[in-house]
Amino acid sequence: MGIKNIIPSQVLNSRGEPTLKVKMVAENGATAWFIVPGGASVGAGEAQKKLDEGESYGGKSVTACVDLINNIIAPKFIGYPVEHQDDFDSLLIALDGSENKENLGANTILALSGAYFKLGAKLSKKPLWQYIAEARGTNPEFPRIYANMVGGGKHAPGLDIQEFMIIPKSNQPIEAVELISQVYGTLKNIMVSLYGPAAKLVGDEGALAPVGARTEVVLEAFANLNSKMDSKFEIALDVAANSFFDGTAYQFEGQSIHASDLLAIYEDWNNKFDLYSIEDPFAETDLEGLELLKTIPKDKKPFLVVGDDYTVTNAAKIAEFAKEQIFDGVIIKPDQVGSITEMFAAIDAARQAGNEIIVSHRSGESNDDFIVDLAYGIGAFGIKIGAPCRGERIAKYNRLLEIEYALDALQAKNGPVDNTVKPIETPLDRPINKPQPGQASPAMPKPQKPASSPLPAQPGSVRDIHFGQPNQAPPSLASNLNPNSQANNQPTGPKSVPASNTHERSPLTPAQSSEPVKTTIPVAPTNPPSPLNATAPNVAPTPPPVAGSAPTPAAGQPSVMPAPSTPPTQSGASFQAGTQALNPTLRASSPDAGQNNDLANGVPPLAPL
Ligand code: PGA
Ligand code: ZN
Repeated sequence: MGIKNIIPSQVLNSRGEPTLKVKMVAENGATAWFIVPGGASVGAGEAQKKLDEGESYGGKSVTACVDLINNIIAPKFIGYPVEHQDDFDSLLIALDGSENKENLGANTILALSGAYFKLGAKLSKKPLWQYIAEARGTNPEFPRIYANMVGGGKHAPGLDIQEFMIIPKSNQPIEAVELISQVYGTLKNIMVSLYGPAAKLVGDEGALAPVGARTEVVLEAFANLNSKMDSKFEIALDVAANSFFDGTAYQFEGQSIHASDLLAIYEDWNNKFDLYSIEDPFAETDLEGLELLKTIPKDKKPFLVVGDDYTVTNAAKIAEFAKEQIFDGVIIKPDQVGSITEMFAAIDAARQAGNEIIVSHRSGESNDDFIVDLAYGIGAFGIKIGAPCRGERIAKYNRLLEIEYALDALQAKNGPVDNTVKPIETPLDRPINKPQPGQASPAMPKPQKPASSPLPAQPGSVRDIHFGQPNQAPPSLASNLNPNSQANNQPTGPKSVPASNTHERSPLTPAQSSEPVKTTIPVAPTNPPSPLNATAPNVAPTPPPVAGSAPTPAAGQPSVMPAPSTPPTQSGASFQAGTQALNPTLRASSPDAGQNNDLANGVPPLAPL
């Protein structure tokens, strides 16, 4: 099944600023769309979005991306087969030809990549989360919701710290969302009583934005409320320290302080209010802060340290930081890296490093709820979706509920099936080495040496070709989303963490295990998930098996990804050689890569777009 049409448009995000939407239509009329989110606190290593920089919308319009897709990119991909994500993304990355996607724009590439991925799910007639789980070989599991309750930083006036979050201890959306809603309502009353009626106004992610508040007072309110509620949630911060670092010092609540002071403050808050995790505790350019992170004893961390601006959903950076076990968790935001394939590579790198995966929205969002299916499908540890307030955040909350309702309905219809039920593991019960009240946190040795910055992967160069070949062979590159692929040696196994991981998932505590356990549906070749759309007509017929293609699964067994269809014909051979040359993965692994192909020579770069 090939692409029939690609329709880009400029739409608005939740800040009322332009962003890019791509709608993609398959030859059978199936459609899918993706809207690119955007951040206010952006890491320096994020892929570069392309903006018009003219007068329209204060320079933030994206009509150049729309034109680029209409005039240059879309014509190349009409007829291109769906469900060859790695190849599709590699071609776009090669077309761009820059290190950070500045030519086509990370927004252009991600909008196409995301719409293409969702179109593959649509054609599979499976829920998006199930399509993701099958493609990645993961076990769907509900993530813990990191709900932003009170905020500041670049998202709102007032507090220096960007996000004060709660994490319900239950990861079952129906239960967790009700708790979040209850806590949000109560905190609203508390903030109003402390800081006046304007404290009910909210920031970009729907979090309350009390002007004149102090961090410690807010944390105390969280902790008091939690103890009144029998500790039903954990408390987490996204400090987003970039936003109050001036290059030399942190300008925090009227004081100019350094990383060591900030760390002492974190330890003090942790002793008083029991912090579960702290994201971006220091600015990414603050080497002292980075050195301090290295010195926290790995087996005695007082709280989980989460990377976002540091790691920017970049596999190479995540792997680099993992060498010194700097982070316990990493944030995954598709737009930070700019393609679905690279996002999955970052997820794999995080898993390999033993990092917890926290899928995240951006402060500039739309009603696109892709990240929810992503987080559930890959069995992510957590998901950040802001407050239960503002339509674009509610879209994510409601999608989580919708998935759980659908699973409940399925269970009600089919009854629980023993071998598909697995207990929910809750890392919140992991042994975390917290100091006892009154006891000092582990001492932090002095910093030793400056860090070397991790290098991003090099992208390819540009070719002026048409990638779509209606009724022709898809480019059968080995490294598509199939986790069993030889060329894709990224780890994709469910929940495998190396022995060095100090934050083990432990089974349910006795108190929790007395509650009914919700079913998650593991996805494994021998135990296929029950099709939620079993009665829907099949609009995406499986291509007939041909010589050289992957073995067709036995009857009743799901195909992890569609088998490659026809091998390249004579004319396709030169196309395939060109495609391989354009694929950075294959180029890197092939000894004669870049040679003897008709596309690698004499084609001007795309830069003058
Ligand atoms: P951003 O903030 O979307 O504005 O970058 C979110 C975050 O820092 O986690
Ligand atoms: Zn962050």
